[in-house]
This record gives sequence, C-alpha cells and structure tokens, in this order.
Amino acid sequence: LISGEPQVERREARDPMAAPEGQWVLMATGRSPTNIAVIKYWGKRDEALILPVNDSISVTLDPDHLSATTTIAVSPSFPSDRMWLNGKEISLSGGRFQSCLREIRKRACEFEDEKKGIKIKKEDWEKLHVHIASYNNFPTAAGLASSAAGFACLVFTLGKLMNVKEDYGELSSIARQGSGSACRSLYGGFVKWCMGKKDDGSDSLAMQLADETHWNDLVIIIAVVSSKQKETSSTSGMRDSVETSPFLQYRAQTVVPSRVLKMEEAIKNQDFESFAKLTCADSNQFHAVCLDTSPPIFYMNDTSHRIISLVEKWNHSEGTPQVAYTFDAGPNAVLISRNRKTAALLLQKLLYYFPPQDKDLSSYLVGDKSILGDAGL
Ligand code: DP6
Repeated sequence: LISGEPQVERREARDPMAAPEGQWVLMATGRSPTNIAVIKYWGKRDEALILPVNDSISVTLDPDHLSATTTIAVSPSFPSDRMWLNGKEISLSGGRFQSCLREIRKRACEFEDEKKGIKIKKEDWEKLHVHIASYNNFPTAAGLASSAAGFACLVFTLGKLMNVKEDYGELSSIARQGSGSACRSLYGGFVKWCMGKKDDGSDSLAMQLADETHWNDLVIIIAVVSSKQKETSSTSGMRDSVETSPFLQYRAQTVVPSRVLKMEEAIKNQDFESFAKLTCADSNQFHAVCLDTSPPIFYMNDTSHRIISLVEKWNHSEGTPQVAYTFDAGPNAVLISRNRKTAALLLQKLLYYFPPQDKDLSSYLVGDKSILGDAGL
C-alpha cells in the first residue's frame, strides 16, 4: 500500500543531571518509508554529488511494513560521531555519510530548552558530535533495498534534531547525496526525482506528484525470490553501465523524458492500463541496459522471469492489465495490483505456481495479512 511521508516520533531532552558529568543529551527519533521506482534511476552524470542521467518516478511504501527508524542523540559528552545499524556499529568515514552530516550541520539553527537548561547556538552544532542508531523493520536478509529509507531517515531526523528550517525539497537534495533513491523517500504517495540541470546539484531534488490518498486502490505485493545479498550493488552496477552501455544514453535521452510525462498523466488520471504498461516496460528496459553492460549484469533469475511470464499471460488473457511488475537491482518481484480483489487473485496464483514448503502461510507473509482471507486462504 502506498503511504505517507517521514514522521518524527519523539523529540526529547534528557535532564542535565541524568547525563554524564552533568551534561545534557538531546535526542530525536524519526521513521522513513522505502520507495519503489516505476520509472527507474540508473546512471549518474556526477558520482560525488549523485546526479542522475534521467528523471525517475516512485511510489512510497507503507512504513508499517518497510521502513527505517533512526534515533539520533547529540551531547557535549560525545567525543566523536558514531553510528549503529541494526545494532552493529558501522563506520561513518564514507563520503556519503559525511556529505549528509555536513550539509545538515551547515543549516542547523539555534535550539533552546529553558527548563532543561540546554542552549545550542547555531555555531555550536559544528562542534557537537552525534550518536546514530538505525533499524530496518524488515529483515536485511530479505534482499530488499534499505539505503533509500535509511538515508532519508538519517537526513530527516538530523534535520529535526538540529532545528533545520529548510523545506522537504531541500532535504531531499541532501538525502540524494547519501543514496540517489533516498531523495524520493522524503514524501509519501507518488514522487518524482527531477534530475536537474545545474552542476552543483541544487536543482536535483524530489517533489510529490500526488499524495498517498490520491490512488489508494493500488495494493503492492513484494515476492521475495531470493534473500541473498545481491552480487553487484546498484552503485557499482550503474557505474559500469554508464561506462560501457551505449543503450543507457539512448534510454536516458530519448526514452525516459516522454515516458516520465506519460507516467505523470497515468498517475494523475488513475489510468491503471497506462501505469502498468509503462511500469513493466521501464523495468524491462532497465534490465536490458544491465544486459548491455560489459560484463553483463544479471539481477533477475529464472524465478523472476517466470513471475514476469505469469503476469504477462494473465494481463493478456484479461485483455487489460491487472498487475504491474517491476524489479530493482535484485531478483525480487514488486507486483502492483489494480485493487484488493486482483491482489487476492495474484496471491492465489503465486502460491499455486510457487508452492511454499511450509503449510503455515502466514509465516511467509509480512505486513497486512488480511489479504489471505480475501484470497480464501
Ligand atoms: C534500481 O539509489 O541504491 O533501485 O545512488 O548509488 O546509492 P546510489 O544507488 P541507489 O540505486 C537505486 C537503483 C534502482 C532504481 C531506482 O530506485 O530508481
């Protein structure tokens, strides 16, 4: 299901007396959903700033099922910046983390909590260190993209903590510097990442096309085909494509611009036929660019291909699309059904053609399990 923008769940200042050596700790917790592109981003024109070669469009998923939750604390008692991902400490030395931290710190504003005796002046933020703890509410092992939700959440929560006043567009352009697709997770509903024209990237940001209430018939089922970590990361895969695939430039310059316009129209008019055709065609073209890369990149496997055939045959036999499929940099299928009834039929078909070994179906399903009842299971 499609859902809303990031939320701040808590913001609290701990009593100065309770913190180490009489020093205070200020914390904020935020949650950001992940998103799935229906017009894909694949290829950068600037690696350092993460500027894409084409616009892209995505749907934001329900954060109850697929999201990142991040708590960030700041205190004069912290000697350095540190981060933990799903409970394990990770290095913050990478350029992408540093870019996000630097850009948010630059925009930080004064903060005061008189009752707790905390006052942070604008220039103090540069000297204060942060501790960041981030969790995904879906198993990392499921092979589903987590960097989009993770960086969106990091930037959003840092922004709240440091009293940043910039709008979501500006925040999205900072999240972009963490991971390109993260910029689209700053909004709910249907989102467009405009590639921008400027060399400094200031106009390469995300905007909302329609909010999560606009087209709420759609139901998204993600079929986890393999839980293995992908062999080629998106970052290195798209770098290889830019360097070696002649098809990538043709796609970016000739195909995507008109496809983006058609997709915007389809979303505006809730035209499922057009939406589904464009989504499937764009997924297939992105994987064709991967095949055109040297050496070729294979993100989909036999099971992915069988799912495509199943959906194509079904759509063809109905005379009009019932389900759209799209695959990112991995074999897992993201299936967008036109409504709940079709989603239930889809689930029946998936379970028939790909029977699970375990009889307890509910153990396979993460998220809204009521769909099982609709499918008579
Ligand atoms: C296939 O955003 O993960 O999911 O910018 O290098 O971090 P970096 O790449 P990333 O790439 C996502 C690629 C994709 C398509 C998409 O989400 O648009």
